[in-house]
Amino acid sequence: MKLWGGRFEKSTDALVEDFHSSISFDQRLYKQDIQGSIAHARMLGEIGVLTAEEAQEIIEGLKGILTDIQAGAIEFEIGAEDIHMNVEKLLTERVGTVGKKVHTGRSRNDQVALDLRLFLREEIDHTKDLLVALLRTILNLAKEHQETWMPGYTHMQKAQPITFAHHMMAYAQMLLRDLGRLRDTRKRLNVSPLGSGALAGTTFPLKREMVAAELGFDGITWNSLDGVSDRDFALEFLSAASIIMMHLSRLCEELVLWSTGEFQFVIMDDGYSTGSSIMPQKKNPDVAELVRGKTGRVYGDLMALLTVMKGLPLAYNKDMQEDKEQVFDAVDTVQKSLLVVEPMLRTIKVNKEAMAKGAKGGFTNATDLADYLAKKNVPFREAHEIVGKLVLYCSKRSCGLEDLTIEELQEQSPVFEEDLFTSIGIEYCVRQRNIPGGPSPTRVAQAIAWTEDALAQL
Ligand code: ARG
Repeated sequence: MKLWGGRFEKSTDALVEDFHSSISFDQRLYKQDIQGSIAHARMLGEIGVLTAEEAQEIIEGLKGILTDIQAGAIEFEIGAEDIHMNVEKLLTERVGTVGKKVHTGRSRNDQVALDLRLFLREEIDHTKDLLVALLRTILNLAKEHQETWMPGYTHMQKAQPITFAHHMMAYAQMLLRDLGRLRDTRKRLNVSPLGSGALAGTTFPLKREMVAAELGFDGITWNSLDGVSDRDFALEFLSAASIIMMHLSRLCEELVLWSTGEFQFVIMDDGYSTGSSIMPQKKNPDVAELVRGKTGRVYGDLMALLTVMKGLPLAYNKDMQEDKEQVFDAVDTVQKSLLVVEPMLRTIKVNKEAMAKGAKGGFTNATDLADYLAKKNVPFREAHEIVGKLVLYCSKRSCGLEDLTIEELQEQSPVFEEDLFTSIGIEYCVRQRNIPGGPSPTRVAQAIAWTEDALAQL
């Protein structure tokens, strides 16, 4: 017998029973569903829709169900469709007729909107903790490597020298913004939709604020249609999760690249690498690759829900039942990825020598040589041309700018003097980039302090 069976003469087709049931996945919301029902029942008791005893019986019944679900003692029923009706059915089995009163002034539409908000709020907090842990690991790496010189790239071509700390701190800024995005998402989602009913509120004088306060919300939704039909809070989470994954993916891609024989900038710990079934020599960065791959899943979750929502007329439509699997998948994927990237990054061995060697080659000091001329009043465009010619000259001789004699240099410009050689030493080039946000060790130390401060305020 269905909880909504009154107006039906025939039973649901067996195929449909299976097709539309969501209990296989939305059972994950059991805790939130019960929390919400407890708050709703308490409020119904307060306004006299239930007697104090009835409210108490329902609350006790719900608490018992929660304990039993947690103990694994409950088998959910596909026939009861979803977590909301499964819980209500269990309640009635346990406390009798009074259980049938819990749904007074409520619909599964505002109930599911509530559950998903409660669920995401908790998962956002957990995701933030994981992000903070990764951010701290990045900060520690940066602190350790403020004078670890490395090449910076554009177009994957060597560009200018930086430090490993500076490179790492770029990711720190990204993760800091990710934290901000999660915080903003949480703020907007933290309002209670309960009381929206199916779509048009209810004739019962529900105390919406009371329920909201008990459930830790900052307020209530202010339109009953919107309260049940909006999923933009879930979409905001999915976009924040997609951006987090994109950041992790770029970091992982760099680890994959840096651990190649060609780069040898880092050595990944054995614990975060795997071997080949045929090639005995192999040590592959599978974990980093998998995070890169899983990024696609989370983008998919975002696209799926955006697509589900795009054509839906107000208010609730069953299409929206498709929101949960996407949200669950994204939550799991982003959390597992953050969880594994942190120790993977923490345990890398940084090959300072290889990085420093890389920083030296490839004319990474060419801009500095042009700047040298510009500081001696040569217009920068002319300085660029002069150094370009010198680079070409060196390329043909397979040497660096620093290997040229003063005479060779002066052939291109009489402005060059002996002091130029100091100006194009790699370490000097980095130290001279002493501008806020720049790679000089002083400025990176400043950025680390600024970031730690920002983190403390989040
Ligand atoms: N299982 C449904 C969902 O996840 C709950 C709401 C159902 N409401 C309804 N009118 N069929 O969206």
